Amino acid sequence: MKVFSEKEALNKHFSVYKNKGLKLGLVPTMGALHKGHLSLAKLALKDNDLVVVSIFVNPTQFDNKEDLKKYPRTLDADVKFLQSLSNEIVVYAPSVEDVYEGKTKAESFDFDGLENEMEGRFRHGHFDGVGTVVKRLFEIVEPQNAYFGEKDFQQLAIIRKLVSKYRLPVNIIGCPILREQDGLAMSSRNTRLKPTYRKESPFIYKTLQRAKEKFGTKSANQVTQWVKDQFAKHPLLKLEYFTVANSETLKPVVRKTKNNKYRAFIAVYADDVRLIDNIALN
Ligand code: PAF
Repeated sequence: MKVFSEKEALNKHFSVYKNKGLKLGLVPTMGALHKGHLSLAKLALKDNDLVVVSIFVNPTQFDNKEDLKKYPRTLDADVKFLQSLSNEIVVYAPSVEDVYEGKTKAESFDFDGLENEMEGRFRHGHFDGVGTVVKRLFEIVEPQNAYFGEKDFQQLAIIRKLVSKYRLPVNIIGCPILREQDGLAMSSRNTRLKPTYRKESPFIYKTLQRAKEKFGTKSANQVTQWVKDQFAKHPLLKLEYFTVANSETLKPVVRKTKNNKYRAFIAVYADDVRLIDNIALN
């Protein structure tokens, strides 16, 4: 399996293929890969002639230095994991210098307000960092298709907005959330959960499922209050936010209407590990 740490070498490797007009798919990741990432790579292999998985813990999307420091870095294991799927995948695992060329700073974006909701309210500058690195990765790799998981549903909406605003020549493909058997959404952060917190964390998805049931007969406000009450009673998990939002605008719902699609979004602290999840409500 080919692993490149420098964009020049990656591009040299691909120039032959690109000149032949072959289709290239990119799966951007921050590593610590799990089956959810593998499902993105599987889809990319199906749709494209060549697949690049980028592994890069992007410093500009972390508003918290400790979080950046603690983010799991497991390149050797990640490469082996991808190899178990296909030896044909190419890994791009660059240094900060290779991506940012001395200017490790996020650009400032206007995503038509999508960036101000939920994660944007609690992780200052996060989406500027995501937008900056994703745009940069698209420029470096020049993929026709790029794959992102729906666990980061807001991120996916923002990347679609980035592509349409900047007219970037890439199709964005959103992929469903993969869950552990007990319902916990797969995430690189799950490896950091202490056993007692890991045991309790399926409570997040269970609560989302019950919130979905309640949304059939209750208002968004009533459902939100109910979720807050459940977490207030929970001894270990701390709710950061729960929001019922319009799936397109991501604005919180005041009154439901028949023609709109809604989704519930949640962020929870399990000790010092921040977990997010979401669910379609209709
Ligand atoms: O979802 C992630 O892992 C990251 O936010 C991404 C899209 C790879 C950008 O660093």
